[in-house]
Amino acid sequence: MVTADPTPALLPTYAPYPFPLVRGEGDRVFDDRGQAWWDFYGGHCVCATGHCHPTVVQAVAAQAASLLFYSAAAALPVRDQAAARITAFAGMDSVFFCNSGAEANENALKVALLLTGRKKLAAFAGGWHGRTLLALSVTDDPKITEPFADQLVPTLRLPFGDLAALAAADFSEIAGVILEPIQSMAGIKTAPRAWFQALRAKCDASGTLLILDEIQTGMGRLGTPFAAQFYGVRPDLITSAKGLASGVPMGALLMTAAVAAKLQGGDLGSTFGGGPLACAALLATVDVIESEGLMANASAAAARLREELAGSVVTEVLGEGLLLGLRSPHAAALKKHLLARNLLVGGSSDPTVLRLMPPLNVSGEALIALIIAIHAFMPEQK
Ligand SMILES: Cc1ncc(COP(=O)(O)O)c(C=O)c1O
Repeated sequence: MVTADPTPALLPTYAPYPFPLVRGEGDRVFDDRGQAWWDFYGGHCVCATGHCHPTVVQAVAAQAASLLFYSAAAALPVRDQAAARITAFAGMDSVFFCNSGAEANENALKVALLLTGRKKLAAFAGGWHGRTLLALSVTDDPKITEPFADQLVPTLRLPFGDLAALAAADFSEIAGVILEPIQSMAGIKTAPRAWFQALRAKCDASGTLLILDEIQTGMGRLGTPFAAQFYGVRPDLITSAKGLASGVPMGALLMTAAVAAKLQGGDLGSTFGGGPLACAALLATVDVIESEGLMANASAAAARLREELAGSVVTEVLGEGLLLGLRSPHAAALKKHLLARNLLVGGSSDPTVLRLMPPLNVSGEALIALIIAIHAFMPEQK
């Protein structure tokens, strides 16, 4: 008798690595056989301070022991401190805490629709912003957006980094425009500085809110606190998640005083958002980034990779800081080759680009392991 496969307890929505992970330390993770893996994937760009940084672990443990949770119904000193710290770090005025990147973007887009009374959004070809319905509306990934085409908010989609297309676009009915300052999933695409200034000016002229999705580019990854500082542009809203609390789930919607002044109590809300555990982890994360010089390390590591990968199978190193793309005509085979040498890297929707988004404290030893492995790659390898 043929029996059907039992339903897996964990819905199989991902294709995980062929080994389970049980421990992490700095820029490495360890599988159930004790083998170490250099983590250039960074738990999907999350582990900004490295795996299990002792300062973060201690802060979370101490907070868990004193007050594990209370909602926004109560004022919490740790939440007030986290708000002051992250707004100062980002150069913004006010913050609303939530739990994930999609939730931060969903709230940013809601704020734009609410404050302008307009019904349309703008975004960019190749942009990726999350899986909730407003975030899907601005995401350019037909395989996940098409099933919901009827439920999405109309979105003007422009080519990324294109000054002429931006100048020609009509923003008069656009509530908010959202962008990843460096498009990650699309294959680490950058835009010229002048384009960011033009976008800011266009938003000012049309009353459109400028939203930077800094879920990957923020928290020191580009060598500056956020991409806003890197590109010299002050948006109306910044969304953050991933590295914000070193892996404790947390999202943030950072805003200017002008935006904050127009929001009423009750416009935004979340039970878990700004929970004490996440706030303690955020405070420790910013402490570590600042006190251990992790932004300088990100810039130095990127410069070293650029220099030492010259002449290898990598034809171009894309991106800034530790949000890098390795372009190679042999990207898929290279990824396999690196995995076989215990190096984890990410793919992208561009089949010729692999992504590196390691902890910001990635060590010289890890960089050397990656550089040697890439130089050892023979293109005929399958
Ligand atoms: C740029 C960007 N925005 C938004 C998201 C969604 O974040 P989350 O998975 O935390 O909802 C992601 C996730 O990969 C992302 O990379």
